[in-house]
Amino acid sequence: MTSSITENGTPSDTPDRDDVARRLLESSETLSYDPAQEVDWDTPLDTNYHGTSPEWSTLYGTAYWKEMTPEQQRELTRQEAASVASTGIWFEMILQQMVLRDFYAKDPTDPAFQWALTEIADECRHSIMFARGAAKLRAPAYRPPRGVVELGRVFKALAFGEAAYAAILVAEEVLDVMQRDWMRDERVVPFVRTVNNIHVVEESRHMKFARQETKERLEKAGWLRKQINAFVVAVASYFIVTSMVNKKVYEKAGLDVRRAVREAKANQHHKSLMRSSCSGLMEFLSSAGLLTKASTWIYKRANLI
Ligand SMILES: [Fe+2]
Ligand SMILES: [Fe+2]
Repeated sequence: MTSSITENGTPSDTPDRDDVARRLLESSETLSYDPAQEVDWDTPLDTNYHGTSPEWSTLYGTAYWKEMTPEQQRELTRQEAASVASTGIWFEMILQQMVLRDFYAKDPTDPAFQWALTEIADECRHSIMFARGAAKLRAPAYRPPRGVVELGRVFKALAFGEAAYAAILVAEEVLDVMQRDWMRDERVVPFVRTVNNIHVVEESRHMKFARQETKERLEKAGWLRKQINAFVVAVASYFIVTSMVNKKVYEKAGLDVRRAVREAKANQHHKSLMRSSCSGLMEFLSSAGLLTKASTWIYKRANLI
């Protein structure tokens, strides 16, 4: 373990791994939520509200969106919110397994070890919260396509080091930029705003840890390892981002699925919203050396750059 206190006894400018983990543990003790208590699960769903900020709908800005009734638009964003939450559960299960594997049989007195278990406990509560939320939004089970589920199975069993932590970071950041908007939006159904608020607060600590771990593990990585892991992270990000909104949401909102999918795919408004929201994340990946030629090409295809 390295110390962050320099030889003359003054703290160094760059906090080390122990400091970061200790601070995260303290912060988690001060501000954590129990969704079972904090979220209003009892008030029946008020269908006068949206599920996401309408501007975040995959169809917002298309010709189809303008043809939809306000009721349909609200039903669509509620189903989209449920789909994003369900994809969140899928990824949180991958994440919990990767972090658990990473800390297997490591030093339990290490603050990072204790933080890792705290993060896993957070994710476990989040997934239950998302599951209850999706049910309350009257959504069916939204899962990524079969092939993506199987790729996730391989990834969660094998990914390690910076590949695991950078993929975690991408998933958490993408969810974060959306949820930050939705938690403040008065058009969004109040219980969904609480869910988003809880997630944003607790995830900001996770993202700090993921950034720290990504940077630290990359310090020891050579050129080839960086190239390979940058590619793996970009592929994982592509499947996470493209699995966020399940096609079934359009059917559930009473829309023509083929037309909705076609217009969503061509929706320039949504693409530019994603790109501008993810600019901070891309800056980080670039500074970490994870924006290689190949990975940049994939991020472009996922509309993250
Ligand atoms: Fe989470
Ligand atoms: Fe997280």
